[in-house]
Amino acid sequence: MVNKIKTCIFISGDGSNLESIIKNSREYNFPIKIELIISNNPNAKGIIFAKKYNIPFKFFSSQNQNNFERNCLFEIKKKKIKFLCLAGFMKILSQNFIKTFRYKIVNIHPSLLPKYKGLNTHKRVLKDKEKYSGCTVHFVNSKLDSGKIILQKKVLIYKNETEKSLKQRILKQEHKLYPQSIISIFK
Ligand code: GAR
Repeated sequence: MVNKIKTCIFISGDGSNLESIIKNSREYNFPIKIELIISNNPNAKGIIFAKKYNIPFKFFSSQNQNNFERNCLFEIKKKKIKFLCLAGFMKILSQNFIKTFRYKIVNIHPSLLPKYKGLNTHKRVLKDKEKYSGCTVHFVNSKLDSGKIILQKKVLIYKNETEKSLKQRILKQEHKLYPQSIISIFK
């Protein structure tokens, strides 16, 4: 594909979704190219993937939200980035920032939205003795984990499931669902 959409990925942690998107983006027909990775956590493990795959990387502290978003916007504009993916990015973006990129920011969340928005999803799902959980890729709007759903994958919860095992099994699905969702957006 000649004209891939210039994309920035935001991370805060391990970056396993980041790596899966990077790998997929190297396929000829994948619609996006990752031109920038931003982390708001200087110790995020995912930073290693920026180095491994030789992708420009920036750390910006998000302690001051205005400064964080101003720094991000500067880099995004400089690199002519048109699409943003949040991949384990644990900071809520301001309404103004989101408005600037309406239908151009997507997020992955480890639950079957609209159920279990917010943090500690696996713990709450197990406490409620749910039969299923899963993951969702959705557009980001001004309300937490509430934008239009792009794709979802259901995961059956086993009898002796622990938070750790559920997290791992859902992550495995996330690594397929995120690239599939990106393909479906630009189809
Ligand atoms: C993923 O499970 C993702 O769905 C979740 O954080 C994990 C990040 O893993 N995101 C959220 O909870 C956002 N509210 P990763 O850093 O290995 O991709």
